[in-house]
Amino acid sequence: MDGAFASVDRGADRRDVSEAFLATLGFGGHQIGNAAAALAEEAGLVGVPVTRVENACASGGFALRSALAAVSAGASPLVLVTGVEKMTDVTNARRRYWLGVSGDTEWERSAGLTFAGVYGLVASRYFAEHGDASEALAEVASKNHENGALNPNAHFHRRVTRAEVLAAPRVARPLGLFDCCPVSDGAAALLLSPPELAHRFTDTPVYVDAAGAGTDFLAVQERPELTRFRASHRAAHEAFRSAGWNRSDVSFLEVHDCFTIAELLALEDLGFAAPGEAPRMTLSGATRRDGRLPVNPDGGLKAKGHPIGATGVSQVYEIFLQLRGQAGLRQVAGADHALAHNVGGAGATAAVSLFSVG
Ligand code: COA
Repeated sequence: MDGAFASVDRGADRRDVSEAFLATLGFGGHQIGNAAAALAEEAGLVGVPVTRVENACASGGFALRSALAAVSAGASPLVLVTGVEKMTDVTNARRRYWLGVSGDTEWERSAGLTFAGVYGLVASRYFAEHGDASEALAEVASKNHENGALNPNAHFHRRVTRAEVLAAPRVARPLGLFDCCPVSDGAAALLLSPPELAHRFTDTPVYVDAAGAGTDFLAVQERPELTRFRASHRAAHEAFRSAGWNRSDVSFLEVHDCFTIAELLALEDLGFAAPGEAPRMTLSGATRRDGRLPVNPDGGLKAKGHPIGATGVSQVYEIFLQLRGQAGLRQVAGADHALAHNVGGAGATAAVSLFSVG
């Protein structure tokens, strides 16, 4: 697949948009059907076909993948990809109920297992297999809060030290408050065009070189292992094979750090660290903004926030800024190739996309 982002450097006309995709879980008080029609109305696109994509927290990554297929089919100068979630208008109890719909209902949700609980189990198992990684988890949180402090669109602008992360109240052992993403409202949007038309809209298009995806069993108990998300592994394998890239080509990563343990798993599942090696890599400073492989320069889900349907789209927005050298104080020096990794539920769905500029 091949598509390019068109910015509005030279302006764009709504009439050039011939198709749109809307990523949303449809959370809490906003659990509405036919949200596609609402997008068409609000975006001034009535008449244009709009498809809603719901793959839990990976909705945005899968919407991008569907949009690329539409672009590749060649019918449209512009395809719109949007993601949106409104999460803060419901009580805590109702929120837990709604978030649980993205996992297994019979064995997990009905038994009272929250997402923090599932990732707490994953982290405990990871510690059992590879040793205590608390310090590395604290480094993930501290790094991502540091990056978020430089992102005007982030949920949190507060920096936290590793010591504060380790001393915070526990939510689901071994994970504490700062190991969790927050509950956020948010939206993001992208315009895609075929590469040959992108220069109508901008002199600096960002290219989508590949979009891979994968799935796994919904219930974690059905999976052979807890410390490896096979959907992420499959999605990355497909993306790298399709683009013909090596891991060493990538300048930085936007990964799905819904809980700090998820960033460690991502480094391993995506092929940037061997099993059990992500803590050492993280503690070496390699994933910091000035490190060998910066991870989540926008603050990640941890500090930028995690408005479910918007997350995968907002990761790509960050990549768009970074690859064009427009990320301001959090700019990754020399960034020219990037990867976005978006996970649904506790690893049941995953999308991985690769991007380049120039
Ligand atoms: N990281 C850092 N600080 C956080 C935070 C987080 N994830 N969540 C809340 N806070 C802060 C708030 O800003 C607030 O700070 P203040 O007192 O200085 O204003 C304080 O902690 C209390 O906030 P509150 O909203 O009362 O926290 P809570 O106890 O209701 O919720 C969590 C905390 C971690 C349980 C909640 O953020 C959560 O459920 N996160 C996970 C969401 C999720 O599962 N998403 C899907 C992932 S697959």
